[in-house]
Amino acid sequence: MDKTPKTVLVTGGAGFLGSHLCERLLEHGHAVICLDNFFTGSKENILTLLDHPSFTLIEHDVCHSIDVHADQIYNLACPASPIHYQHDPVKTIKTNVHGAINMLELAQKKGATILQASTSEVYGDPHAHPQPESYWGNVNPIGIRSCYDEGKRCAETLFFDFHRQFHLPIKVARIFNTYGPRMHPNDGRVVSNFIVQALKNAPITIYGEGTQTRSFCYYEDLIDGLIRLMNSAISLTGPINLGNPVEFTMLELAQLILELTGSTSELIFLPLPGDDPKQRKPDIQLAQQQLGWQPKTALREGLLATIAYFDHLDVTNFV
Ligand SMILES: NC(=O)c1ccc[n+]([C@@H]2O[C@H](COP(=O)([O-])OP(=O)(O)OC[C@H]3O[C@@H](n4cnc5c(N)ncnc54)[C@H](O)[C@@H]3O)[C@@H](O)[C@H]2O)c1
Repeated sequence: MDKTPKTVLVTGGAGFLGSHLCERLLEHGHAVICLDNFFTGSKENILTLLDHPSFTLIEHDVCHSIDVHADQIYNLACPASPIHYQHDPVKTIKTNVHGAINMLELAQKKGATILQASTSEVYGDPHAHPQPESYWGNVNPIGIRSCYDEGKRCAETLFFDFHRQFHLPIKVARIFNTYGPRMHPNDGRVVSNFIVQALKNAPITIYGEGTQTRSFCYYEDLIDGLIRLMNSAISLTGPINLGNPVEFTMLELAQLILELTGSTSELIFLPLPGDDPKQRKPDIQLAQQQLGWQPKTALREGLLATIAYFDHLDVTNFV
């Protein structure tokens, strides 16, 4: 891997994944520009970085163009949980599409390599299981999740068109469910929901019968995958799946969180929300072969660290 110090722009750098990425890049000796509009990100996430001499914070919305120097751009700006991305769906599409165009044009101008944080949501409610990168997906184009799914699909299209038309070096990572400290406690995602409910000894809400599966990747593994992809051979554009292929049902996840928190919460069952995928599991053969990457952190270990983080917050205010 090329270890030469670079100037790296991270959009969405004050969010859950972005803040950890900024931290890791600074540890690697790079100068980091964190760009964020603080829609779901926070100053607390980057508090320890603000005084770092190689860290610059720019409060900015990716829907508007910007001119800063960067050798590499990680485009993470976009709310990631349904509660947040459905809050203002039109803004979500704009963030995905206008944001991608603005960052791609910036990369073109600066001669930077640009990485897109895409998502397993591009596979929709998949008919292929596990999902390889060659699977085109089963996405509802007019549903309540479409602002996110279709926005991310359009961003992928833009990345590949800039690559084909202008020879821009691109990297597209399809990120699967990732969790860890600094997740927003109120974001309605299953890991944060269950942990906050368990810590409050409040009922754990399971949608459907709890037999739907997800695979959960710990943030440290994911960040490692993103950095490997960014620094891979120029010919490797992706899309490339990054996620943990070990599957759990929602019931298994709830039971493990109950055990690890020692909670007395009961389980309650609610109707499934619209377009909720029944299964989601990455095929990571490409990442294994091309990046020598695979997740190392077991769910139990990652959950313990995440529970410790939420335990430090005052969870009585959440969910
Ligand atoms: N966490 C996951 O499981 C997961 C899975 C798949 C894909 N992703 C992708 O990874 C990226 C980061 O996700 P996250 O979990 O850290 O979410 P997050 O909500 O914590 O972070 C997103 C960040 O983007 C910022 N942002 C949103 N709209 C913006 C805009 N218009 N201009 C500038 N900044 C803006 C937010 O303020 C926030 O800091 C997102 O693009 C998301 O789609 C995450």
